[in-house]
Amino acid sequence: MLVWEEDLQPSISHTANGAAAPLRNEPSSSEFAAPALQSAVSSTLPSTASTSAVAPVAASSAPAGHRVKAADKRIINGKTDVNQLVPFKYKWAWEKYLATCANHWMPQEVNMSRDIALWKDPNGLSEDERRIIKRNLGFFVTADSLAANNIVLGTYRHITAPECRQFLLRQAFEEAIHTHAYQYIVESLGLDESEIFNAYNEVKSIRDKDEFLIPFIDAIMDPNFHTGTPQNDQTLLKSLIVFACLMEGLFFYVGFTQILALGRQNKMTGAAEQYQYILRDESMHCNFGIDLINQLKLENPHLWTAEFKAEIKALFLHAVELEYRYAEDTMPRGVLGLNASMFKGYLRYIANRRAQQIGLEELFPNEENPFPWMSEMIDLKKERNFFETRVIEYQSGGALSWD
Ligand SMILES: [Fe+2]
Ligand SMILES: [Fe+2]
Repeated sequence: MLVWEEDLQPSISHTANGAAAPLRNEPSSSEFAAPALQSAVSSTLPSTASTSAVAPVAASSAPAGHRVKAADKRIINGKTDVNQLVPFKYKWAWEKYLATCANHWMPQEVNMSRDIALWKDPNGLSEDERRIIKRNLGFFVTADSLAANNIVLGTYRHITAPECRQFLLRQAFEEAIHTHAYQYIVESLGLDESEIFNAYNEVKSIRDKDEFLIPFIDAIMDPNFHTGTPQNDQTLLKSLIVFACLMEGLFFYVGFTQILALGRQNKMTGAAEQYQYILRDESMHCNFGIDLINQLKLENPHLWTAEFKAEIKALFLHAVELEYRYAEDTMPRGVLGLNASMFKGYLRYIANRRAQQIGLEELFPNEENPFPWMSEMIDLKKERNFFETRVIEYQSGGALSWD
């Protein structure tokens, strides 16, 4: 994505009359697909091993007989062989990798029959509830593809700690599962696929969020971008913060809360169960990202300047505003006991938490969580079947059945 040679400029452009052009973070037609793939693959080949970003890929770059020492590993700009997972240095990354594997699930294991019946019943859901569901899917059906591509084509090659790469590989697969889950819901309900999958080009509140994110993804996916200078290392750090704290850690939360609120009212329980598993996964992704950010900061304290912190703070404030506008667009009136203004407090509460997790001060002092029940959802234990759409408890691995 976005690494085909002729399109290295910002992905989103506007026509002269101000009309928005389609989001170009992905090739918009098949003619772009081949060059995109070529660039993506070639950017990881050892032929560019002279650059710090990919040098560790070339195991032969280490002197013969030189064994990896854990103490020599680095999150970025490391010189140790990235093909050697052990000796471990970043145990937290390995433990999170194991935890995500233990949470494994697949969308088709969730029974959607009640959701389908409710959606097809003309009196089953209000128009506002239907709007929430369609807007929700409109954002998420492409958001997790953005997330996956950001990892695979961007973040991964810049990270030189193999334990962290191991987590990122698992995370990339989970993003594929999430896209699968959203597609599965769209297909199960018989929604207009074209409407839902084009929402990120056609619905302003969704498009604005993606336009905010894409420059930070593009920056690190540029095949000419390499870490190794303070400026470029800050670019990567900024991208990691935007991705973990603002995309996975903030932009998902209005949508998750809305669908889980439906589930709590015994509506769309299959979709709600899937969102609950996705929320659990995303919570892990966000926590891993924060660990990665903090470790990178520890190893590179010179990057965390006052100017850089001010820039990050401004991004947080902008992201809260965008997500709040999304809340307003998806809930023009109160619905499900929720309304947009309740989300203002919630988003501020979450933003405070994310800021503090990476060592910034609270942005909005004294905000409280208006949705304490969401914490219970995040802390889902895998043996718990909150919406009771499954008849047997989930264990990682084989497919499940229901009566
Ligand atoms: Fe995801
Ligand atoms: Fe994620």
